Amino acid sequence: MSGGLVTAAYIVAAILFICSLAGLSKHETSKQGNTFGISGMAIALIATIFGPDSGNVAWILLAMVIGGAIGIRLAKKVEMTEMPELVAILHSFVGLAAVLVGINSYIDHAPGLPDVMENIHLSEVFIGIFIGAVTFTGSLVAFGKLCGKISSRPLMLPHRHKLNLLALIVSFLLLLWFVNTDSTGAQVFALLVMIVIALAFGWHLVASIGGADMPVVVSMLNSYSGWAAAAAGFMLSNDLLIVTGALVGSSGAILSYIMCKAMNRSFISVIAGGFGTDTRIDSTSEEVGEHREITAEETAEVLKASSSVIITPGYGMAVAQAQYPVAEITDKLRARGINVRFGIHPVAGRLPGHMNVLLAEAKVPYDVVLEMDEINDDFSDTDTVLVIGANDTVNPAALEDPHSPIAGMPVLEVWKAQNVIVFKRSMNTGYAGVQNPLFFKDNTQMLFGDAKASVEGILKAL
Ligand code: TAP
Repeated sequence: MSGGLVTAAYIVAAILFICSLAGLSKHETSKQGNTFGISGMAIALIATIFGPDSGNVAWILLAMVIGGAIGIRLAKKVEMTEMPELVAILHSFVGLAAVLVGINSYIDHAPGLPDVMENIHLSEVFIGIFIGAVTFTGSLVAFGKLCGKISSRPLMLPHRHKLNLLALIVSFLLLLWFVNTDSTGAQVFALLVMIVIALAFGWHLVASIGGADMPVVVSMLNSYSGWAAAAAGFMLSNDLLIVTGALVGSSGAILSYIMCKAMNRSFISVIAGGFGTDTRIDSTSEEVGEHREITAEETAEVLKASSSVIITPGYGMAVAQAQYPVAEITDKLRARGINVRFGIHPVAGRLPGHMNVLLAEAKVPYDVVLEMDEINDDFSDTDTVLVIGANDTVNPAALEDPHSPIAGMPVLEVWKAQNVIVFKRSMNTGYAGVQNPLFFKDNTQMLFGDAKASVEGILKAL
């Protein structure tokens, strides 16, 4: 393939990526967006592999077959609830790739560049490796937190913000040294020290963020992985990688900003590892009163006596795959003339839109599925709320306890309804590791057991 043809293919691929982002921004056009993205990536791959800069096509194809086989196996195996973990680990690969490309680019670069170009090249290498290393360990911690291998509670090291600032200042000084010294030994030393600092910095940055802020962290790491790819694009002189990286980086940053707004979080605070937050987490997982229990049969009676019902699903509904019997209950109650609606919190579950996807799968009509802002004022006029596997997203501590790790996060104000029935298996805390005072309120009753079994029990009794 000639250089001109490769450039033309890159332009087409870049346009397809932009169309893909536009398509993915709306539910109705998301499938089309996916098709654009896949086509763009196919064109980009063909142009890169068969372009004038690639040698050893056989090796590249072999690596693609092995990588593709692993990818297909993983994608088939992964459960919907495990998607964020998969995304986090994939981000870590992008970070690691940027580090390796940077090191390779440093070792392999042509000597004899003019001074200015040499300085630009060295800066690219240094910054690319720094972003890649931060993304690598940050994503590994996010993966650990999302799959429960690392506690979701924020790590509160003393002077943590000063440590972060120190890491940035030392890295900047190392950059100046790396670019200005003529000694190869000094350059290698500066690079290695920076890599260690960046790995620790990425680790600490994400470890300091509490569980409830993980959705923002995942989209922020998505953004970092984009910038890491863009940096790799500069080092490899690959324009399409620069464009694609910038698209991922900027769209991830915009998504993080939107999520921060929805969750009443400061964007700067989250990207700076919880800077400016005041959280005391020691006492929050203790039980704070007595709870009352209810059976599935009694719940059915409460529902029959209600004229309005709101269902607020959460992660537990996804784990139990309870959406199908929930849809059946909805039909039965609506057939009795009861007004049944759903209240969806923006970060319920483990993915943006997680609950909407599950309810759509179970064919719950769109018009009874409302966003938190649309339904929050209606709880005080509601007879019964069924909290199905939700916890953090219905926790009143977010509004009542200024020292809670979830303080300030808007939540579904379910406790304002006449009766609240919480479906879960135990008194365990939710993802943020914070006890939920809702469970001990006078109008709340706990229906213990797997959410699917509990909902099926109610169905039988209805
Ligand atoms: P969570 O706070 O995660 O609580 C889920 C509850 O479901 C748990 O308390 C658990 O209690 C219960 N549960 C689990 N399996 C169950 C089963 N089989 N049957 C019945 N109950 C079950 O849920 P949420 O309210 O949806 O909040 C989501 C949390 O995840 C937020 O903190 C959010 O920030 C975070 N997060 C969200 C995202 C996105 S983008 N949505 C991404 C990452 C993290 P038991 O163990 O007692 O049953």
